[in-house]
Amino acid sequence: MITIRSMTVEDFERFWPTFHAVVGARETYALDPALTYEQGRQLWLELPLHSLVAEDRGELLGAYYLKANAAGPGKHVSNCGYMVCEAARGRGVARAMCEHSQKLARQEGFLAMQFNAVVASNEAAVALWQKLGFEIVGRLPKAYRHARLGLVDCLVMYKWLADEPVVEKPPLLIGRKNIEARVSRRRGR
Ligand SMILES: CC(C)(COP(=O)(O)OP(=O)(O)OC[C@H]1O[C@@H](n2cnc3c(N)ncnc32)[C@H](O)[C@@H]1OP(=O)(O)O)[C@@H](O)C(=O)NCCC(=O)NCCS
Repeated sequence: MITIRSMTVEDFERFWPTFHAVVGARETYALDPALTYEQGRQLWLELPLHSLVAEDRGELLGAYYLKANAAGPGKHVSNCGYMVCEAARGRGVARAMCEHSQKLARQEGFLAMQFNAVVASNEAAVALWQKLGFEIVGRLPKAYRHARLGLVDCLVMYKWLADEPVVEKPPLLIGRKNIEARVSRRRGR
């Protein structure tokens, strides 16, 4: 059973090795590998509207954040970032988090979700986001310097969410940063 709930400061401490490894790999996120712990915590836990963890009986599986992608006339579009701990990959954690994030975005009044720079060589992510309804709406040629592949393209991916009903019950959210949602997923892998 994958449980998704609000991230605490202690959770970020447990998540840091994954965050640090993902950023340090320079294969998926356009973040400075030299980011300090405090800068990472601010970016992932403090600045977003919501920051959540996925866990299974106390084992941290991954984390995601939700925030507005832009301000003013663009603030109805949300943005998320997802990371799954290496040992938990291929078990449907990212799928569960992305599905959860879309419901939470609707609850927060967002009408759409945009991923600004999905690295095109990140095949698992691109395929998963497409399966979950995101369209590739743009390609940024050679916008990412991949640690192993050199300059690769980034994809802008977008999903209009407002055709989905807002999920009221069971509550995804009780107060800010207090998530109660359980997503049952049984995976053979
Ligand atoms: C990308 C990432 C989030 C995926 O997490 P995950 O929990 O392993 O993903 P899931 O198990 O939910 O789903 C993986 C899906 O991709 C599919 N997949 C795996 N490798 C694939 C590949 N090379 N090509 C196409 N599909 C692939 C799986 O079959 C699965 O599809 P399904 O749900 O239809 O069975 C994870 O690898 C990660 O954290 N990577 C580093 C950070 C990152 O890339 N974040 C996303 C930035 S856009």
